Parts: sequence; C-alpha cells; structure tokens
Amino acid sequence: MTPRGLPNAWKSLHKRGYRPILTKAPLNESLAAALILMTGWRHETPFVDPLCGSGVLPIEAAWMALRRPPGLTRKRFGFQGWMDYDVQLWTALRDEARRGVGRTLPAPILGSDLRGDAVAFAIDNARAAGIGRLLRFDKRDVRDFRPPEGPPGVILCNPPYGERIGEETDLIPLYKSLGEVFAQRCKGWTAFVFTGNPMLADAIGLRPAAQIPLYNGKIACRLLRFELE
Ligand SMILES: C[S@@+](CC[C@H](N)C(=O)[O-])C[C@H]1O[C@@H](n2cnc3c(N)ncnc32)[C@H](O)[C@@H]1O
Repeated sequence: MTPRGLPNAWKSLHKRGYRPILTKAPLNESLAAALILMTGWRHETPFVDPLCGSGVLPIEAAWMALRRPPGLTRKRFGFQGWMDYDVQLWTALRDEARRGVGRTLPAPILGSDLRGDAVAFAIDNARAAGIGRLLRFDKRDVRDFRPPEGPPGVILCNPPYGERIGEETDLIPLYKSLGEVFAQRCKGWTAFVFTGNPMLADAIGLRPAAQIPLYNGKIACRLLRFELE
C-alpha cells in the first residue's frame, strides 16, 4: 500500500497535509521545523528563505510564530484507538490549542526562488496550510536578493548541494554568490545555510560562527551560522 493510500491515523506525523506533491530535493517538514528551532529565531524579527522551493521553511516558521501546532487539522491520530483514550481530555486540549492560534504575524516571513513553478507551488502550499494571506513568495534569483527594510532578522536556506558527480562543480558559483550577497547586503542579519556538501560550504567564502552536524536522511549535512556584522 502506498503512503498516499494509508488511513490518516497511520500516516507519519511529519506529514502535515499541506504539501501534496514533492518538488526536487524537498526538506521533510519536521527537519525544516527542527532547523528553524536551531536558528534560535524568536518570531519578532523577519524570517527569509531566498531559495524556498516548496516553501516549507517559511510555512513552518509561520506556524510557529502563530503558535499553531502542526497536527491541528489532522483528522485522526493512532492513540485515538487505544483502550484508555480519553475523548473529553483530547477534545479539551485540541480546542485550547485552536483558541491559542494567532491571526497575524509579528514580523514578515518571506520566500523567493529562481523557479516560477516552485514559487507557484509554495503559494499553493501556504494556502493549503491556511496562511496564504500571511506569507509572501516571489520569483527571484538569489543574486538579486535584498533583505526587507527594517530591523534585521534570520535568513535560513538549503541551497541545492549536487548529489551526482559533476553537479557540485556547477553549484560553486551559486554558493559564492550567496556569500557575496550575505556580506554586501545583509549587514546585521544572521544567516543559516543547511548543506550536505563541505566543498560547496567553503565556496560561500565566509567564516561560519558555528556549524551543527546533522543528517538529512542518510546524507551527513551541516547547518552553518553566519553572523553578518
Ligand atoms: C534544495 S531546494 C530547496 C528545497 C526547499 N527548502 C524545499 O523543501 O522545498 C533548492 C532550491 O534552490 C532554488 N535555486 C537554485 N538556484 C537558485 C538561484 N540562483 N536563486 C534562487 N533560487 C535558486 C531551486 O529552484 C530549488 O527550489
């Protein structure tokens, strides 16, 4: 049976329900949420992903800022079949969580991507996540990226890292540009890059203030932090 055919209660908890089809090299939703938590972003400053693909980082960031629990619209959980499942307690907890969801974001959350189809997909996903009117996605090459006016915030992205031989060399200019854009236009911001390729990480050309080792499935990756003073 395919995951699509599984009854709701059996579907993995990382499947939030807003991203029906997968684009190339998407981040799984729970890894995206973990990366956002690791940045230490506190919701009152802007959050930007200039290589947003399907929009998972801005969407997860917005749900956090709105205090919206990720399983809120899930119809059924596995524990609801347990012998001692307490329907009243669950209903009370779920209703309390629903009442606590905010309606507006404290600061802008933005995404952009070179590909128009990725941007259209991110917009659809944000709508499916119930936050279409709160987020902004634009089609833009990261080389033309400028952070929004106002107080600095957090940039978090996972650029492509070339899983096939030969691909990584083609990606060196992209990583180099990322470093130039950070250094020249993003003063005061904190930028995070999640990548599975140390050679491409070096091509950014900036010294990371921290490197957190992580795995994306089987791929050893690092979350690099750049303080753009
Ligand atoms: C690994 S994917 C990002 C995945 C995304 N976090 C997700 O889960 O869907 C990398 C993204 O970078 C985008 N990209 C590649 N080169 C770019 C460029 N020069 N400017 C902006 N986006 C670019 C690709 O279109 C792709 O969507």
